[in-house]
Amino acid sequence: MSTGIRKARRSEWDEIFLMGYEAWGDGDTKELYLKECHESEKYQQGVWYVYESEGIAVSSLIVYQNLFNLPEGCFGVGSVATRDDQLRKGYASRLVKEISDNLGKSGAKGIYLFSDIDPEFYRRQGFESVSANQPYKDTTCMVLSFNNKSPLPLQIPQYF
Ligand SMILES: CC(C)(COP(=O)(O)OP(=O)(O)OC[C@H]1O[C@@H](n2cnc3c(N)ncnc32)[C@H](O)[C@@H]1OP(=O)(O)O)[C@@H](O)C(=O)NCCC(=O)NCCS
Repeated sequence: MSTGIRKARRSEWDEIFLMGYEAWGDGDTKELYLKECHESEKYQQGVWYVYESEGIAVSSLIVYQNLFNLPEGCFGVGSVATRDDQLRKGYASRLVKEISDNLGKSGAKGIYLFSDIDPEFYRRQGFESVSANQPYKDTTCMVLSFNNKSPLPLQIPQYF
């Protein structure tokens, strides 16, 4: 059974979306929430990845490029979530770490994300707050830069 990161299969989308149901379901029924996720233009524009442990997709996230006013050569990571029955086993951390390593190796200049949770979770993965002046309430824009010699613009992308 394999362990590690891979692109999600379309057949897994329901289980991936349900990983975020508690956080983003907004009181909707699961059926309505799934329908909205499937119809989401935002979700259709990204690429979903999962962390697989012993054959089970346990954690997921989406990667965006050329969207939301992201600086050129940079990626956006969003919707990081773990299955309810697999929380606190390090899976989301490993998924974020592996996607960051892969994007860094493939030449990305940086990765942006919006942390809706305590930013410390992402700081442990090397991300830092983009600036002291954060325009959005309840979320922190963070960035992981791969080239210290040429700093990224201090621009904050649109929330994604
Ligand atoms: C946040 C989340 C992805 C973490 O997944 P996970 O696989 O359990 O994460 P890991 O096992 O790698 O790391 C666990 C650590 O994450 C941190 N963490 C988890 N949930 C957190 C939260 N709501 N706020 C702040 N930190 C949190 C804690 O430091 C935790 O360590 P602890 O168990 O010692 O307290 C998961 O709780 C989840 O799916 N939440 C709902 C969706 C969500 O809010 N995603 C974040 C969007 S920015």
